[in-house]
Amino acid sequence: MTDTRRDWWRDAVIYQVYIRSFADGDGDGLGDVEGIRSRLPYLRDLGVDAIWINPWYPSPMADAGYDVADYRDVEPVFGTLEQAERLLREAHELGLKVFLDIVPNHTSDEHPWFQEALSAGPGSDARGRYHFRAGRGEAGEQPPTDWRSTFGGSAWTRVTEPDGSPGEWYLHLFDVKQPDLNWTRKDVRDEFLDVLRFWFDRGVDGFRIDVAHSLTKDMGYPDLGLEEEGVLDSPDRSNHAHWDRDDVFHIYEEWRELADSYDPARAFVAEAWVYSSERLAHYVAPGVLHTAFNFDFVRAPWSAGPLREVIDTTMASHATVGAPATWVLSNHDITRHVTRYARLEQVAGADIHTGDWEVDVELGRRRGRAAALLMLALPGGAYVYQGDELALEEVTDLPDEVLQDPVWERSGHTLRGRDGCRVPIPWTGSGPSLGFGDGVPWLPQPHHWAELSVAAQEGVEGSTLELYRTALRLRRELDALGDGPMHWIDSAAGVLAFRRDPGFVCVVNIGGAPAELPPHEELLVSSAPLEGGRLPVDAAAWLSTGPGPE
Ligand code: BGC
Repeated sequence: MTDTRRDWWRDAVIYQVYIRSFADGDGDGLGDVEGIRSRLPYLRDLGVDAIWINPWYPSPMADAGYDVADYRDVEPVFGTLEQAERLLREAHELGLKVFLDIVPNHTSDEHPWFQEALSAGPGSDARGRYHFRAGRGEAGEQPPTDWRSTFGGSAWTRVTEPDGSPGEWYLHLFDVKQPDLNWTRKDVRDEFLDVLRFWFDRGVDGFRIDVAHSLTKDMGYPDLGLEEEGVLDSPDRSNHAHWDRDDVFHIYEEWRELADSYDPARAFVAEAWVYSSERLAHYVAPGVLHTAFNFDFVRAPWSAGPLREVIDTTMASHATVGAPATWVLSNHDITRHVTRYARLEQVAGADIHTGDWEVDVELGRRRGRAAALLMLALPGGAYVYQGDELALEEVTDLPDEVLQDPVWERSGHTLRGRDGCRVPIPWTGSGPSLGFGDGVPWLPQPHHWAELSVAAQEGVEGSTLELYRTALRLRRELDALGDGPMHWIDSAAGVLAFRRDPGFVCVVNIGGAPAELPPHEELLVSSAPLEGGRLPVDAAAWLSTGPGPE
């Protein structure tokens, strides 16, 4: 049933559809709009409230669609605008809302604006829409600053001027094919408001904002003082030249006003990799954005103390601005949580695809199931990345020659990048791509994913898919879940237990021994069977406790 509340986003569960890898409708090995359309009933039955679709705009695909050449159309390999409009209609008919992904920090270098900037030459108005600068050194042969690309190497690339001479440098915090826009320009701001309107008018319910914390730059272009080659980032970002600057909020105030002018109101979720919960709260302050992914939860190891601390700081910081928290375990940029939790050594901040870890993937799946019950019981909204509900792990052994993430090339083949979490998901146990489509999938799937496919788990008691379905159904049924307060209850070392009123308790055992359950009326669901009435290690349970305390 369609949720008509204006603030539906405060407790929504949103499923991330990574379009390239969700379902392939035309057999070319890449997922597409028709593929998504054919699987909408699956998403409705899963019990999510909305979907977020990664960029589907025309793109040269230098960064899997995060290099946009035209913000008002659909990439032909994914489908047509007409198909997209039908998808929106059908999703709405099934009671599912739809978020798209807006990429405002940069365009593709093949976007008409950048092409115009290249040919218009230094000092032109067209160059002013981006960050073009003269180089340093006698002949301008060195980059203007020491800023680094997130994907490795300098964040500046030198262009050849129309007359053939070596020319200015342009900024790209990501790939060389993703030039950063200059957000001090009114025409840039107006253009994006218009793009938002374009999709809102077609019924899109909201947007995920790509690298929401990087749009504004220090226009004095100071050096960051990065000493070593390869230092990408630092947690100390106070007054940083290009991350998480206070002037970025003005942009979102305008966006919020636009979203609020629609009925039903449209919503935003920020992708902002900031380094404190207090900073994140600025993004979701009144009049700014609605929600922002809480990546501190992703960075926390599978350990009771750090998880509890993240939950507490998140709840406290969001309470100061009256915003709901937004929980997430995995997405298309980070190591799948099954694999993060599979590591025998659990350390903080190990969210990206680096390191040589000893893993026990079955242990990771077990912990992943417990983490899902934890996440879905916490106050606020939550995101499920496609394949989370199947307990998929990161694919860590993709052959070098299939890797497509620009990180692989830009890091000089030292970082393998993010392809391992982007492998097409398995729908059935057989066929050329385990039901993903009729063609050869753009990344090869592990054979054993046949046993994790939707078909293999559907209706199977105790499967991860059925666990998600049950949890999502309960989340809709129980008043205690979703937005609202939570209260920790006393528990043994290594056990997280909290109450949600009325009458609900979530217990997660990350300790060293099976745990006694607190007094309850009914076991609603557990991520693993109880052992002699006790909750085993690396498992979670939802309990109904009857009418709660006054
Ligand atoms: C997206 C990435 C993308 C980057 C540049 C992000 O954070 O999620 O997939 O590579 O922005 O657009």
